[in-house]
Amino acid sequence: MSILIKNGRIITASEDSVADIFVQGEKIVAIGKDLPYRADKVIDASGKLVFPGGIDPHVHLDMPFMGTYSSDNYETGTRAALFGGTTMVIDFILQTQGKSLRNALEAWQGRSNGNAVGDYSFHMAVTDFNEDTKKEIGEMVEKEGITSFKTFMAYKGALMINDSQMIGLMQEVKKYNALVTVHATNGDMIDFLIAKHRSEGNLSPLYHYLSQPEVTEAEASGRFSELAQYTGVRGYIVHMTCEGALNAVRDVSKMNHNVIAETCIQYLMLDASLYEKDFDGAKYVMSPPLRQKKDQASLWSGIQQGTVQVVATDHCPFKWEQKLMGKDDFSKIPNGHPAIEHRMELLFSEGVAKGRINLNKFVEVNSTNAAKIFGMFPQKGTLGIGSDADIVIFDPTEKHTISAKTHHMNVDYSAYEGVEVTGKVKTVILRGEVAIDGNDCKIQKGYGRFIRRSTPR
Ligand code: URP
Ligand code: ZN
Ligand code: ZN
Repeated sequence: MSILIKNGRIITASEDSVADIFVQGEKIVAIGKDLPYRADKVIDASGKLVFPGGIDPHVHLDMPFMGTYSSDNYETGTRAALFGGTTMVIDFILQTQGKSLRNALEAWQGRSNGNAVGDYSFHMAVTDFNEDTKKEIGEMVEKEGITSFKTFMAYKGALMINDSQMIGLMQEVKKYNALVTVHATNGDMIDFLIAKHRSEGNLSPLYHYLSQPEVTEAEASGRFSELAQYTGVRGYIVHMTCEGALNAVRDVSKMNHNVIAETCIQYLMLDASLYEKDFDGAKYVMSPPLRQKKDQASLWSGIQQGTVQVVATDHCPFKWEQKLMGKDDFSKIPNGHPAIEHRMELLFSEGVAKGRINLNKFVEVNSTNAAKIFGMFPQKGTLGIGSDADIVIFDPTEKHTISAKTHHMNVDYSAYEGVEVTGKVKTVILRGEVAIDGNDCKIQKGYGRFIRRSTPR
Protein backbone atom coordinates (compact mmCIF):
# COMPACT_ATOMS: atom_id res chain seq x y z
CA MET A 1 0.00 0.00 0.00
CA SER A 2 1.31 3.47 -0.85
CA ILE A 3 -0.14 6.88 0.00
CA LEU A 4 0.72 10.29 -1.43
CA ILE A 5 -0.32 13.26 0.75
CA LYS A 6 -0.25 16.35 -1.43
CA ASN A 7 0.26 20.03 -0.61
CA GLY A 8 -0.16 19.89 3.17
CA ARG A 9 1.53 22.35 5.53
CA ILE A 10 3.95 19.95 7.19
CA ILE A 11 4.80 20.79 10.79
CA THR A 12 7.48 19.08 12.87
CA ALA A 13 9.22 20.30 16.01
CA SER A 14 11.62 22.28 13.82
CA GLU A 15 10.08 22.61 10.31
CA ASP A 16 7.12 24.35 8.72
CA SER A 17 6.71 24.03 4.94
CA VAL A 18 4.15 23.14 2.26
CA ALA A 19 5.13 19.87 0.56
CA ASP A 20 4.08 16.29 -0.26
CA ILE A 21 4.70 13.13 1.77
CA PHE A 22 5.03 9.72 0.14
CA VAL A 23 4.35 6.65 2.26
CA GLN A 24 5.22 3.10 1.25
CA GLY A 25 4.35 0.18 3.49
CA GLU A 26 4.69 1.32 7.10
CA LYS A 27 7.24 4.08 6.52
CA ILE A 28 7.62 7.60 5.18
CA VAL A 29 9.95 7.29 2.17
CA ALA A 30 9.97 10.80 0.67
CA ILE A 31 9.07 14.37 1.59
CA GLY A 32 9.35 17.22 -0.90
CA LYS A 33 7.60 19.59 -3.27
CA ASP A 34 5.69 18.07 -6.22
CA LEU A 35 6.85 14.50 -5.58
CA PRO A 36 6.66 12.51 -8.84
CA TYR A 37 5.35 9.25 -7.31
CA ARG A 38 2.21 7.29 -8.24
CA ALA A 39 0.37 5.92 -5.22
CA ASP A 40 -2.52 3.57 -4.40
CA LYS A 41 -4.19 6.46 -2.57
CA VAL A 42 -3.77 10.21 -2.99
CA ILE A 43 -4.94 12.60 -0.25
CA ASP A 44 -5.27 16.32 -1.03
CA ALA A 45 -4.14 18.14 2.13
CA SER A 46 -4.30 21.69 0.69
CA GLY A 47 -5.19 24.16 3.43
CA LYS A 48 -4.59 21.53 6.12
CA LEU A 49 -1.86 21.05 8.70
CA VAL A 50 0.07 17.77 8.66
CA PHE A 51 1.44 16.65 12.04
CA PRO A 52 3.29 13.59 13.35
CA GLY A 53 0.86 11.26 15.15
CA GLY A 54 0.23 12.32 18.73
CA ILE A 55 1.84 10.40 21.59
CA ASP A 56 0.13 10.28 24.98
CA PRO A 57 2.66 8.79 27.41
CA HIS A 58 0.30 8.73 30.40
CA VAL A 59 -2.82 6.55 30.16
CA HIS A 60 -4.43 3.85 32.31
CA LEU A 61 -6.33 1.27 30.25
CA ASP A 62 -8.26 -1.60 31.85
CA MET A 63 -6.42 -0.85 35.09
CA PRO A 64 -7.42 -2.40 38.43
CA PHE A 65 -7.68 0.58 40.78
CA MET A 66 -9.63 1.52 43.93
CA GLY A 67 -11.81 -1.60 43.82
CA THR A 68 -12.75 -1.36 40.13
CA TYR A 69 -11.23 -1.16 36.62
CA SER A 70 -10.76 1.92 34.44
CA SER A 71 -13.54 1.67 31.87
CA ASP A 72 -11.59 1.93 28.59
CA ASN A 73 -9.83 -1.26 27.59
CA TYR A 74 -7.10 -1.53 24.96
CA GLU A 75 -9.60 -1.66 22.13
CA THR A 76 -11.89 1.21 23.13
CA GLY A 77 -9.09 3.35 24.57
CA THR A 78 -6.66 3.18 21.66
CA ARG A 79 -9.48 3.59 19.14
CA ALA A 80 -10.75 6.71 20.90
CA ALA A 81 -7.15 7.99 20.97
CA LEU A 82 -6.89 7.53 17.20
CA PHE A 83 -10.09 9.53 16.63
CA GLY A 84 -8.30 12.40 18.35
CA GLY A 85 -5.03 12.01 16.42
CA THR A 86 -3.09 10.12 19.10
CA THR A 87 -1.46 7.18 17.32
CA MET A 88 0.48 5.84 20.30
CA VAL A 89 -0.03 5.66 24.06
CA ILE A 90 2.15 4.48 26.94
CA ASP A 91 0.23 2.63 29.64
CA PHE A 92 1.34 1.82 33.20
CA ILE A 93 1.89 -1.72 34.42
CA LEU A 94 1.36 -1.86 38.20
CA GLN A 95 3.45 -4.33 40.19
CA THR A 96 1.36 -5.95 42.95
CA GLN A 97 3.18 -5.50 46.25
CA GLY A 98 4.74 -8.85 47.22
CA LYS A 99 4.83 -10.08 43.62
CA SER A 100 7.35 -9.75 40.78
CA LEU A 101 7.57 -7.29 37.91
CA ARG A 102 7.33 -10.25 35.52
CA ASN A 103 4.03 -11.29 37.08
CA ALA A 104 2.62 -7.80 36.45
CA LEU A 105 4.00 -7.66 32.90
CA GLU A 106 2.23 -10.92 32.07
CA ALA A 107 -1.06 -9.61 33.44
CA TRP A 108 -0.83 -6.48 31.26
CA GLN A 109 0.21 -8.50 28.21
CA GLY A 110 -2.84 -10.71 28.78
CA ARG A 111 -5.14 -7.69 28.57
CA SER A 112 -3.38 -5.90 25.71
CA ASN A 113 -2.16 -8.63 23.31
CA GLY A 114 -4.31 -8.69 20.20
CA ASN A 115 -6.68 -6.04 21.53
CA ALA A 116 -5.12 -2.67 20.72
CA VAL A 117 -6.21 -0.70 17.66
CA GLY A 118 -3.42 1.92 18.02
CA ASP A 119 0.23 1.44 18.99
CA TYR A 120 1.23 1.24 22.65
CA SER A 121 4.08 0.66 25.06
CA PHE A 122 4.43 0.14 28.81
CA HIS A 123 6.00 1.94 31.75
CA MET A 124 6.70 -0.40 34.68
CA ALA A 125 5.38 0.92 38.02
CA VAL A 126 7.61 -0.39 40.80
CA THR A 127 5.45 -0.51 43.92
CA ASP A 128 7.65 -2.86 45.95
CA PHE A 129 11.39 -2.31 45.48
CA ASN A 130 13.41 -5.10 47.14
CA GLU A 131 16.35 -7.40 46.31
CA ASP A 132 14.19 -9.51 43.96
CA THR A 133 12.72 -6.51 42.13
CA LYS A 134 16.21 -5.05 41.76
CA LYS A 135 17.30 -8.11 39.75
CA GLU A 136 14.43 -7.62 37.31
CA ILE A 137 15.21 -4.01 36.32
CA GLY A 138 17.97 -4.85 33.79
CA GLU A 139 15.84 -7.60 32.28
CA MET A 140 12.93 -5.18 31.74
CA VAL A 141 15.19 -2.70 29.95
CA GLU A 142 17.25 -5.10 27.87
CA LYS A 143 14.86 -7.96 27.18
CA GLU A 144 11.44 -6.28 27.19
CA GLY A 145 12.18 -2.79 25.87
CA ILE A 146 10.60 -1.19 28.95
CA THR A 147 12.90 1.73 29.73
CA SER A 148 10.89 3.84 32.19
CA PHE A 149 10.06 2.94 35.80
CA LYS A 150 7.14 4.65 37.51
CA THR A 151 7.07 5.35 41.22
CA PHE A 152 4.34 6.63 43.51
CA MET A 153 5.07 8.86 46.52
CA ALA A 154 1.35 8.55 47.47
CA TYR A 155 -1.40 5.87 47.65
CA LYS A 156 0.12 4.30 50.78
CA GLY A 157 -0.60 0.60 51.27
CA ALA A 158 -1.22 0.03 47.57
CA LEU A 159 1.33 1.77 45.33
CA MET A 160 3.53 4.07 47.44
CA ILE A 161 7.24 3.40 48.01
CA ASN A 162 9.36 5.08 50.69
CA ASP A 163 12.48 7.19 50.13
CA SER A 164 14.95 4.38 50.77
CA GLN A 165 13.22 2.25 48.14
CA MET A 166 13.25 5.27 45.82
CA ILE A 167 17.01 5.74 46.19
CA GLY A 168 17.67 2.01 45.66
CA LEU A 169 15.53 2.00 42.54
CA MET A 170 17.15 5.17 41.18
CA GLN A 171 20.62 3.70 41.61
CA GLU A 172 19.65 0.52 39.80
CA VAL A 173 17.83 2.31 36.95
CA LYS A 174 20.79 4.67 36.52
CA LYS A 175 23.04 1.68 35.67
CA TYR A 176 20.99 1.21 32.48
CA ASN A 177 20.59 4.93 31.74
CA ALA A 178 16.83 4.36 31.95
CA LEU A 179 14.26 6.78 33.42
CA VAL A 180 12.50 7.03 36.79
CA THR A 181 9.09 8.70 36.61
CA VAL A 182 7.05 9.76 39.59
CA HIS A 183 3.62 10.62 40.92
CA ALA A 184 5.05 13.28 43.22
CA THR A 185 2.76 14.07 46.15
CA ASN A 186 3.35 13.60 49.87
CA GLY A 187 1.31 10.47 50.62
CA ASP A 188 1.55 10.69 54.42
CA MET A 189 0.35 14.28 54.50
CA ILE A 190 -2.53 13.50 52.14
CA ASP A 191 -3.61 10.51 54.26
CA PHE A 192 -3.51 12.72 57.36
CA LEU A 193 -5.75 15.32 55.71
CA ILE A 194 -8.16 12.70 54.34
CA ALA A 195 -8.57 11.21 57.83
CA LYS A 196 -9.10 14.67 59.33
CA HIS A 197 -11.82 15.65 56.84
CA ARG A 198 -13.60 12.32 57.20
CA SER A 199 -13.54 12.49 61.00
CA GLU A 200 -15.14 15.95 60.80
CA GLY A 201 -17.90 14.62 58.55
CA ASN A 202 -16.68 16.49 55.46
CA LEU A 203 -17.29 13.90 52.77
CA SER A 204 -18.07 15.69 49.48
CA PRO A 205 -15.71 15.80 46.44
CA LEU A 206 -14.52 19.26 47.49
CA TYR A 207 -12.63 17.56 50.34
CA HIS A 208 -10.68 15.45 47.86
CA TYR A 209 -9.27 18.76 46.62
CA LEU A 210 -8.72 20.11 50.13
CA SER A 211 -6.83 16.92 51.11
CA GLN A 212 -4.16 17.56 48.47
CA PRO A 213 -3.07 21.20 48.82
CA GLU A 214 -0.34 22.56 46.58
CA VAL A 215 2.33 22.02 49.25
CA THR A 216 1.84 18.22 49.10
CA GLU A 217 2.94 18.31 45.47
CA ALA A 218 5.60 20.99 45.80
CA GLU A 219 7.30 19.16 48.68
CA ALA A 220 7.35 15.76 46.96
CA SER A 221 8.47 17.23 43.61
CA GLY A 222 11.40 18.93 45.32
CA ARG A 223 12.28 15.78 47.29
CA PHE A 224 12.17 13.61 44.17
CA SER A 225 14.32 16.11 42.27
CA GLU A 226 16.90 16.19 45.07
CA LEU A 227 17.10 12.38 45.10
CA ALA A 228 17.44 12.29 41.30
CA GLN A 229 20.18 14.93 41.54
CA TYR A 230 21.96 12.88 44.22
CA THR A 231 21.78 9.56 42.35
CA GLY A 232 22.32 11.10 38.90
CA VAL A 233 19.35 9.25 37.41
CA ARG A 234 17.19 10.84 34.72
CA GLY A 235 13.90 11.85 36.36
CA TYR A 236 10.46 12.74 35.01
CA ILE A 237 7.55 14.08 37.05
CA VAL A 238 4.16 13.02 35.69
CA HIS A 239 0.95 15.08 35.79
CA MET A 240 2.45 18.26 37.29
CA THR A 241 -0.35 20.65 38.24
CA CYS A 242 0.96 23.72 40.01
CA GLU A 243 3.35 26.62 40.40
CA GLY A 244 4.84 25.27 43.65
CA ALA A 245 5.87 21.97 42.06
CA LEU A 246 7.29 23.71 39.00
CA ASN A 247 9.33 26.05 41.17
CA ALA A 248 10.65 23.13 43.23
CA VAL A 249 11.98 21.52 40.04
CA ARG A 250 13.38 24.84 38.83
CA ASP A 251 15.27 25.19 42.13
CA VAL A 252 16.95 21.80 41.80
CA SER A 253 17.65 22.32 38.11
CA LYS A 254 19.99 25.13 39.14
CA MET A 255 22.29 22.23 40.10
CA ASN A 256 21.61 20.10 37.02
CA HIS A 257 18.84 19.46 34.56
CA ASN A 258 18.11 15.79 35.17
CA VAL A 259 14.45 16.27 36.00
CA ILE A 260 11.78 17.28 33.52
CA ALA A 261 8.03 17.47 33.86
CA GLU A 262 4.83 16.47 32.15
CA THR A 263 1.53 18.22 32.64
CA CYS A 264 -1.89 17.11 31.44
CA ILE A 265 -4.44 18.95 29.34
CA GLN A 266 -6.92 19.24 32.23
CA TYR A 267 -4.45 21.18 34.40
CA LEU A 268 -3.99 23.72 31.61
CA MET A 269 -7.69 24.48 31.20
CA LEU A 270 -9.89 23.29 34.10
CA ASP A 271 -9.76 24.63 37.65
CA ALA A 272 -10.79 23.75 41.19
CA SER A 273 -14.06 25.70 41.09
CA LEU A 274 -15.50 22.52 39.51
CA TYR A 275 -15.33 20.84 42.95
CA GLU A 276 -17.94 23.25 44.27
CA LYS A 277 -20.73 21.59 42.24
CA ASP A 278 -21.73 19.01 44.91
CA PHE A 279 -21.35 15.41 43.76
CA ASP A 280 -20.99 16.46 40.11
CA GLY A 281 -17.45 17.40 41.17
CA ALA A 282 -16.74 13.63 41.27
CA LYS A 283 -16.17 13.83 37.49
CA TYR A 284 -13.02 15.80 38.30
CA VAL A 285 -11.80 13.74 41.25
CA MET A 286 -8.30 12.88 40.12
CA SER A 287 -4.91 12.98 41.80
CA PRO A 288 -3.40 15.50 41.99
CA PRO A 289 -6.61 17.56 41.85
CA LEU A 290 -7.35 20.51 39.58
CA ARG A 291 -5.75 23.74 40.83
CA GLN A 292 -6.13 27.50 40.41
CA LYS A 293 -5.95 29.83 37.40
CA LYS A 294 -2.51 31.07 38.55
CA ASP A 295 -1.25 27.48 38.25
CA GLN A 296 -2.48 27.23 34.68
CA ALA A 297 -0.48 30.37 33.83
CA SER A 298 2.61 28.84 35.48
CA LEU A 299 2.29 25.60 33.54
CA TRP A 300 1.99 27.46 30.20
CA SER A 301 5.17 29.35 31.10
CA GLY A 302 6.85 26.06 32.09
CA ILE A 303 6.01 24.78 28.60
CA GLN A 304 7.52 27.88 27.00
CA GLN A 305 10.67 27.56 29.10
CA GLY A 306 11.07 23.83 28.46
CA THR A 307 10.81 22.50 32.02
CA VAL A 308 7.38 21.12 31.15
CA GLN A 309 8.14 19.08 28.05
CA VAL A 310 5.06 16.92 27.54
CA VAL A 311 1.28 17.41 27.63
CA ALA A 312 -0.40 14.08 28.38
CA THR A 313 -3.85 13.13 29.76
CA ASP A 314 -3.52 10.66 32.66
CA HIS A 315 -6.60 9.16 30.97
CA CYS A 316 -8.20 7.00 33.66
CA PRO A 317 -11.94 6.90 32.94
CA PHE A 318 -14.66 5.63 35.23
CA LYS A 319 -18.34 5.50 34.38
CA TRP A 320 -20.78 7.42 36.52
CA GLU A 321 -21.91 4.28 38.36
CA GLN A 322 -18.26 3.71 39.31
CA LYS A 323 -17.88 7.30 40.53
CA LEU A 324 -20.98 6.68 42.69
CA MET A 325 -18.89 4.25 44.77
CA GLY A 326 -17.87 7.42 46.60
CA LYS A 327 -21.24 9.17 46.87
CA ASP A 328 -21.06 9.16 50.69
CA ASP A 329 -17.27 9.48 51.01
CA PHE A 330 -14.91 11.36 48.66
CA SER A 331 -12.04 9.00 49.52
CA LYS A 332 -13.87 6.13 47.77
CA ILE A 333 -14.44 7.95 44.46
CA PRO A 334 -12.21 6.21 41.87
CA ASN A 335 -9.56 8.79 40.90
CA GLY A 336 -9.27 9.74 37.25
CA HIS A 337 -10.99 11.37 34.29
CA PRO A 338 -11.44 10.68 30.56
CA ALA A 339 -9.42 12.71 28.02
CA ILE A 340 -7.51 10.37 25.67
CA GLU A 341 -9.64 11.37 22.69
CA HIS A 342 -9.50 15.13 23.07
CA ARG A 343 -5.94 15.95 24.20
CA MET A 344 -4.60 16.96 20.81
CA GLU A 345 -7.58 19.05 19.68
CA LEU A 346 -7.87 20.76 23.09
CA LEU A 347 -4.14 21.50 23.14
CA PHE A 348 -4.33 22.98 19.65
CA SER A 349 -7.40 25.02 20.54
CA GLU A 350 -6.16 26.26 23.93
CA GLY A 351 -2.52 26.54 22.90
CA VAL A 352 -2.14 27.42 19.21
CA ALA A 353 -5.54 28.97 18.39
CA LYS A 354 -5.37 31.15 21.51
CA GLY A 355 -1.79 32.21 20.73
CA ARG A 356 -0.08 30.66 23.75
CA ILE A 357 2.26 28.35 21.80
CA ASN A 358 3.36 28.16 18.17
CA LEU A 359 2.91 25.18 15.86
CA ASN A 360 6.42 23.79 16.42
CA LYS A 361 6.03 23.89 20.19
CA PHE A 362 2.66 22.19 19.77
CA VAL A 363 4.29 19.28 17.92
CA GLU A 364 7.08 19.12 20.50
CA VAL A 365 4.79 18.71 23.50
CA ASN A 366 2.18 16.69 21.64
CA SER A 367 4.55 14.03 20.31
CA THR A 368 8.24 14.71 19.59
CA ASN A 369 9.45 15.22 23.15
CA ALA A 370 7.66 12.10 24.38
CA ALA A 371 9.28 10.07 21.59
CA LYS A 372 12.72 11.40 22.55
CA ILE A 373 12.34 11.14 26.32
CA PHE A 374 10.90 7.63 26.23
CA GLY A 375 13.33 6.19 23.66
CA MET A 376 11.50 5.81 20.36
CA PHE A 377 12.70 8.77 18.29
CA PRO A 378 12.89 9.04 15.26
CA GLN A 379 10.77 5.94 14.70
CA LYS A 380 7.92 7.87 16.34
CA GLY A 381 7.25 11.54 17.04
CA THR A 382 8.31 13.15 13.77
CA LEU A 383 7.74 13.25 10.04
CA GLY A 384 11.07 12.13 8.63
CA ILE A 385 12.32 9.74 5.99
CA GLY A 386 12.43 6.29 7.59
CA SER A 387 10.04 7.21 10.41
CA ASP A 388 6.85 5.22 10.94
CA ALA A 389 4.12 6.76 8.81
CA ASP A 390 2.04 7.98 11.78
CA ILE A 391 0.45 11.10 10.32
CA VAL A 392 -2.43 13.41 11.24
CA ILE A 393 -4.14 15.66 8.70
CA PHE A 394 -5.74 18.49 10.63
CA ASP A 395 -8.14 21.30 9.76
CA PRO A 396 -7.04 24.29 11.88
CA THR A 397 -10.23 26.28 11.36
CA GLU A 398 -13.08 23.79 11.80
CA LYS A 399 -14.97 24.34 15.04
CA HIS A 400 -16.81 21.59 16.92
CA THR A 401 -18.25 20.92 20.35
CA ILE A 402 -17.22 18.08 22.65
CA SER A 403 -19.98 15.84 23.99
CA ALA A 404 -20.41 12.39 25.51
CA LYS A 405 -23.07 11.86 22.82
CA THR A 406 -20.42 11.84 20.11
CA HIS A 407 -17.17 10.76 21.77
CA HIS A 408 -15.74 7.26 21.36
CA MET A 409 -14.43 6.64 24.89
CA ASN A 410 -16.22 4.00 26.97
CA VAL A 411 -17.58 6.42 29.53
CA ASP A 412 -21.04 7.94 29.87
CA TYR A 413 -20.10 11.58 30.54
CA SER A 414 -17.55 14.04 29.27
CA ALA A 415 -15.37 16.17 31.51
CA TYR A 416 -15.40 18.68 28.61
CA GLU A 417 -19.13 18.60 27.78
CA GLY A 418 -20.07 21.64 25.69
CA VAL A 419 -16.52 22.93 25.22
CA GLU A 420 -16.14 24.47 21.77
CA VAL A 421 -12.87 23.53 20.09
CA THR A 422 -11.11 25.19 17.17
CA GLY A 423 -9.36 22.64 14.95
CA LYS A 424 -10.33 19.11 13.96
CA VAL A 425 -8.57 15.86 13.17
CA LYS A 426 -9.67 14.79 9.68
CA THR A 427 -7.48 11.83 8.68
CA VAL A 428 -5.12 9.68 10.74
CA ILE A 429 -2.57 7.28 9.26
CA LEU A 430 -0.96 4.68 11.50
CA ARG A 431 2.10 2.86 10.14
CA GLY A 432 0.98 3.43 6.57
CA GLU A 433 -2.70 2.46 6.98
CA VAL A 434 -5.54 4.97 7.00
CA ALA A 435 -6.84 4.47 10.54
CA ILE A 436 -9.34 7.33 10.79
CA ASP A 437 -11.16 8.86 7.86
CA GLY A 438 -13.61 11.53 9.07
CA ASN A 439 -16.02 9.77 11.41
CA ASP A 440 -14.90 6.22 10.57
CA CYS A 441 -12.25 3.96 12.05
CA LYS A 442 -10.83 1.81 9.23
CA ILE A 443 -8.60 -0.54 11.19
CA GLN A 444 -9.49 -3.34 13.60
CA LYS A 445 -8.35 -4.36 17.04
CA GLY A 446 -5.10 -6.29 16.78
CA TYR A 447 -3.56 -3.75 14.36
CA GLY A 448 -2.00 -1.87 17.29
CA ARG A 449 1.52 -3.02 18.05
CA PHE A 450 3.63 -3.07 21.20
CA ILE A 451 6.57 -0.67 20.67
CA ARG A 452 9.85 -1.62 22.32
CA ARG A 453 11.82 1.36 23.57
CA SER A 454 15.54 2.07 24.01
CA THR A 455 17.67 4.23 26.30
CA PRO A 456 19.87 7.17 25.24
CA ARG A 457 23.38 6.10 24.25
O1 URP B 1 -6.38 10.34 39.44
C1 URP B 1 -5.55 9.71 38.81
N1 URP B 1 -4.50 10.36 38.42
N2 URP B 1 -5.73 8.40 38.54
C2 URP B 1 -4.83 7.53 37.93
C3 URP B 1 -3.69 7.12 38.80
C4 URP B 1 -2.62 8.16 38.87
O2 URP B 1 -2.33 8.64 39.96
O3 URP B 1 -2.04 8.54 37.85
ZN1 ZN C 1 -0.59 9.65 39.41
ZN1 ZN D 1 -1.73 8.30 36.02
